[in-house]
Amino acid sequence: MINRILRAMLFCVTVTMPLVAPASQNLAQVKTLHMTRDISSIGQECIRCHQQESPGQVADWKMSRHAHAGVSCIDCHGVAKDSPMATQHESLVGTDVFVTALVSPAVCGRCHVDAKKQFDSSGHFRAYHQIIPKDNLHALTNVHEGQNHPELKGAPNETGCMQCHGTRIELDEHNRPTPETWPNNGMGNIYPDGSTGSCTACHSRHTFDIAEARKPNACASCHLGPDHPNIEIYNNSKHGHIFNTNSDNWRWDTAPDAWEPGDYRAPTCATCHMSGIGELSVTHNVSERLYWNLWAKESKVRGSDDVLSPLLGDGPAGRKKMKSVCNNCHSPRHTDGFFAQGDKAVKLYNEAYYQPATNMLNELKEKKLLKDNPWADAFQIKYYYMWHHEGRRARQGAMMGAADYAHWHGFFELQQDLYEMQMIYQKRLETGKIED
Ligand code: HEC
Ligand code: HEC
Ligand code: HEC
Ligand code: HEC
Ligand code: HEC
Ligand code: HEC
Ligand code: HEC
Ligand code: HEC
Repeated sequence: MINRILRAMLFCVTVTMPLVAPASQNLAQVKTLHMTRDISSIGQECIRCHQQESPGQVADWKMSRHAHAGVSCIDCHGVAKDSPMATQHESLVGTDVFVTALVSPAVCGRCHVDAKKQFDSSGHFRAYHQIIPKDNLHALTNVHEGQNHPELKGAPNETGCMQCHGTRIELDEHNRPTPETWPNNGMGNIYPDGSTGSCTACHSRHTFDIAEARKPNACASCHLGPDHPNIEIYNNSKHGHIFNTNSDNWRWDTAPDAWEPGDYRAPTCATCHMSGIGELSVTHNVSERLYWNLWAKESKVRGSDDVLSPLLGDGPAGRKKMKSVCNNCHSPRHTDGFFAQGDKAVKLYNEAYYQPATNMLNELKEKKLLKDNPWADAFQIKYYYMWHHEGRRARQGAMMGAADYAHWHGFFELQQDLYEMQMIYQKRLETGKIED
């Protein structure tokens, strides 16, 4: 078996991605990626031995485009001797080959320049960077969730936040990642080489498949739950209905920028947020087609180049791009009508919920009628649920066509939150005290 694979690989393979088209043409702008190579003898050793030691990894890799192009274990895992991550396992001692389990986005970026550049300018890039300076979030995980336990307080972050957001990966004295920081494929990992990201978050190792990343499941492992129920919203939408009943025969592996309606009947997360469609090209910048910020306490229109800003993106340009996605399958009147409905819901949230609740919060603060511990204060807990859970569900549900989330999990619960906050607020003002 292994001999057959090695023979196939030793035979030089030429890989050609779609050629660059003149900018004026509405064709793929994908870079040409020619590779004509064979696998060195030490590179073959990795495969031969790991076929025994970790057959699952080799089996996945064999199915990948990388195997066909002669990109093998050593190309991604090999590092220079003086790298802080350099290690040698038994079989490599005595050779000048050093490897690491860590494969950073900088490694992928050597060959996939555009994907990395776009990722670096996206909201995904900041997934961990933005948490670093926020003392209240560290207090939430360590002091409250971790109950300041001397040895165990890290658990909520390590098994929770970090698995979606990533962390700064630290090395032990043997140059290996520590269990406090790895394994995880959180979106915003900061690697020891300084690069940021997680290219395996959507196309998992070792197949690195575009078909996988195009399916909603690839986003669902992080975009779910009470505070950003994007997969639930999708399943609730008409598009999810069609995907869930109808997608077995869709063509999932068409080349980037050639994947168009006809290959599929309804859009997935990737279609709307990332894929090439019509006049748009593939982008790894998921913020590029957005108008609002829908996760913040108050929704504002995007307009910032700063990758750490909540308003990263260009709202009006983003809206234009998103509408052009829809217009591949809907009439402009349908599309415009949909966004008029959605924007109204976002504005209602801002004006009828965020504003009055924040006015009450500020007044209570001024009158010293808030507890120091926000997680043990009935008003502040409600306020948090209002914007972070219910308010996001209403806004994101409305903007992605999910009636149950816009309404029952959204505005219905929002009015309940507001009335409860008003009762607590009035009682505190009347009594001049915080209730027990
Ligand atoms: C003769 C068998 C053998 C060969 C050859 C071999 N490996 Fe390994 N490799 C192993 C075993 C066994 C482990 C797990 C034990 C360990 O990490 O020491 C391992 C672990 C690894 C790890 C994880 C290291 C870590 O810190 O957890 C990576 C990455 C790796 N190998 C890549 C490679 C690459 C790349 C090559 C080729 C340059 C290679 N291996 C060659 C047997 C081999
Ligand atoms: C296209 C690049 C690429 C190639 C080729 C590749 N790997 Fe990996 N590998 C990765 C990435 C990315 C990770 C995740 C690393 C991280 O968490 O930083 C990984 C993780 C690993 C790990 C550690 C995590 C685990 O699940 O045990 C081992 C061991 C490993 N690869 C072995 C191999 C072997 C053996 C081959 C060859 C058959 C191979 N890799 C080929 C990119 C690659
Ligand atoms: C040494 C160069 C090289 C490195 C390093 C590399 N790749 Fe690739 N990658 C290629 C080539 C060549 C192709 C094949 C292009 C083709 O088939 O059209 C490819 C194809 C891909 C594809 C498209 C697969 C498909 O289904 O069409 C993805 C996704 C991908 N790579 C992701 C990654 C990720 C993630 C990493 C880092 C973990 C990585 N690559 C590292 C050279 C590389
Ligand atoms: C490994 C977890 C993970 C996966 C998988 C994932 N995301 Fe995210 N995503 C995040 C995190 C974390 C954030 C918040 C980043 C931040 O801190 O602002 C985010 C933010 C976003 C945003 C908002 C960006 C902004 O500027 O506010 C969009 C849109 C998005 N993701 C789309 C997607 C799509 C589409 C997919 C699948 C193709 C996907 N994500 C897969 C974790 C993930
Ligand atoms: C299941 C995956 C997941 C877990 C666990 C998770 N998050 Fe998130 N987080 C996300 C996603 C996805 C978003 C993006 C929401 C959106 O765009 O609407 C996000 C958004 C955020 C934001 C707002 C983005 C920004 O740029 O300010 C912050 C702050 C945040 N998370 C912090 C945390 C902290 C702290 C924890 C642990 C206490 C945590 N998250 C746990 C997935 C997760
Ligand atoms: C949020 C999910 C997500 C993350 C994170 C992600 N990708 Fe992708 N990637 C996709 C999707 C979806 C496609 C397919 C787009 C389409 O429909 O053609 C894709 C396509 C690709 C392709 C083939 C198309 C092209 O532009 O050449 C490559 C190569 C690639 N990704 C590499 C990477 C690298 C390198 C990283 C890390 C910097 C990365 N990806 C991170 C979702 C992701
Ligand atoms: C039909 C197209 C479409 C599909 C399918 C879709 N989205 Fe969206 N998404 C949108 C639109 C439109 C918005 C709101 C953009 C705006 O105007 O700000 C949005 C907003 C978001 C946001 C909010 C960003 C913020 O500011 O808080 C996230 C996160 C997100 N989508 C992730 C996903 C995920 C994950 C999936 C799949 C489970 C998905 N989307 C499916 C069109 C889509
Ligand atoms: C690949 C084609 C495709 C794309 C792209 C697409 N849709 Fe759809 N959409 C459909 C199909 C098919 C239906 C089901 C029509 C039906 O109910 O018979 C649908 C249904 C809907 C519905 C439910 C109401 C109705 O008329 O059935 C809304 C709302 C909607 N789409 C909005 C959007 C928006 C907004 C976008 C862009 C952000 C978008 N769609 C992008 C194919 C698409």
